[in-house]
Amino acid sequence: MKVIDYNRPSLRGAIQVPGDKSISHRSVMFGAIAEGTTTVEGFLLGEDCLSTIDCFRKLGVQIDVDGTNVKIESAGIDAWEEPKEVLYTGNSGTTTRLMLGILSGTNLHTIMTGDASIGKRPMRRVVDPLRQMGAQIAGRAGGQYTPLAIQGTELQAIDYTMPVASAQVKSAILLAGLRAKGTTIVRESEVSRDHTERMLRQFGAKVDVTEGVVSFEGGQKLVGTHVKVPGDISSAAFFLVAGAIAKDSEVVIENVGVNETRDGIIDVLTAMGANMSMMVEGETVAEPTATITIRTSHLHGTTIEGAIIPRLIDEIPILALLATQANGQTIIKDAEELKVKETDRITAVVTELKKLGADIEATDDGMIINGPTPLQGGSLKSYGDHRIGMMAAVAALITDEPIQLDDAECIAVSYPTFFEHVHSLIVR
Ligand code: S3P
Repeated sequence: MKVIDYNRPSLRGAIQVPGDKSISHRSVMFGAIAEGTTTVEGFLLGEDCLSTIDCFRKLGVQIDVDGTNVKIESAGIDAWEEPKEVLYTGNSGTTTRLMLGILSGTNLHTIMTGDASIGKRPMRRVVDPLRQMGAQIAGRAGGQYTPLAIQGTELQAIDYTMPVASAQVKSAILLAGLRAKGTTIVRESEVSRDHTERMLRQFGAKVDVTEGVVSFEGGQKLVGTHVKVPGDISSAAFFLVAGAIAKDSEVVIENVGVNETRDGIIDVLTAMGANMSMMVEGETVAEPTATITIRTSHLHGTTIEGAIIPRLIDEIPILALLATQANGQTIIKDAEELKVKETDRITAVVTELKKLGADIEATDDGMIINGPTPLQGGSLKSYGDHRIGMMAAVAALITDEPIQLDDAECIAVSYPTFFEHVHSLIVR
């Protein structure tokens, strides 16, 4: 249990958040599939991304980690070894789901499993389309849950219309499509993060993307390259909210990835009246980055729904905290996907913020928050979910009493230096 006792500080100064989790995972996956050397700069040393590295090492790929620089040497996917051990994906849904797509088209037998949270997360959303491509996957409850056994085989391309907006599902199909015969097509009604499409191009593949339809020819070879990972906007989100709600604050966050499939939080902060400015700097991995400055803000409620949801799905816990400090009502809907994240984030957010005195109710597909309400301290649970843990820690910046947080260690899944960054900004 961690006692977080900040005593209502101001936050002032600049930070650089760690590398983007989605892009860090993919840099290792693509580097392992590609022939040649891939160098990665700004890699996220979070537990989830380390799980991805661990899995590829078990497949015989040579990966050297030197601080946030990672070097992957591979003779290509056909040179991978059949692992003698189970591939352990830890808490990482991205590792588990994308690896399913990658491994289905190899000539290897592999078994994958993860932690207790992974064991409850639905895998049929990936397994079903992969089976339509010819994949041989066996697992608990017909392949819904880990452990999963994959017998790699030849795959056929698929034309797949996504039933849910999920970049993990889209990416698993696209990665399987790399090895499939024919043209793989994925159709999205709401556009999810597009890092896989961007990275396929960066590693030399030809991909067409038009109005929510991604298509590309199977059998294309990837070639090793250099990947510069921008800071993770989903990690920056905690400091954007912290800067907006802590008293007399000004926080500068440098090198934040602002890919338009990820930056929904910027639109919401703007709609809520945040005192914020943003300077877009340029592209890394064809991923735009920006320096964002946020100051203590007078906020008002808003409605968050529809196509913006996939653009901020991971930010909803911290946006819920923000809404408790905004004037009026905030409604979050169309976000039932929250129920199948690292924990059920609708229940977790509502239960924990209520303990602090927030006026918040769960709905079937989101939550309704009335503000502003002063928050008090208390004992909170992270549910082993990094983003719930960080939401609790940011709440502690505006409570008079401390917050006791169980399993604060889970924050290392995506942001190992989170508490150091909070401390570096605190002024009294
Ligand atoms: C991710 C996609 C999202 C997101 C997750 C990372 C990715 O999940 O919540 O943190 O890297 O592709 P879904 O695909 O389940 O929406």
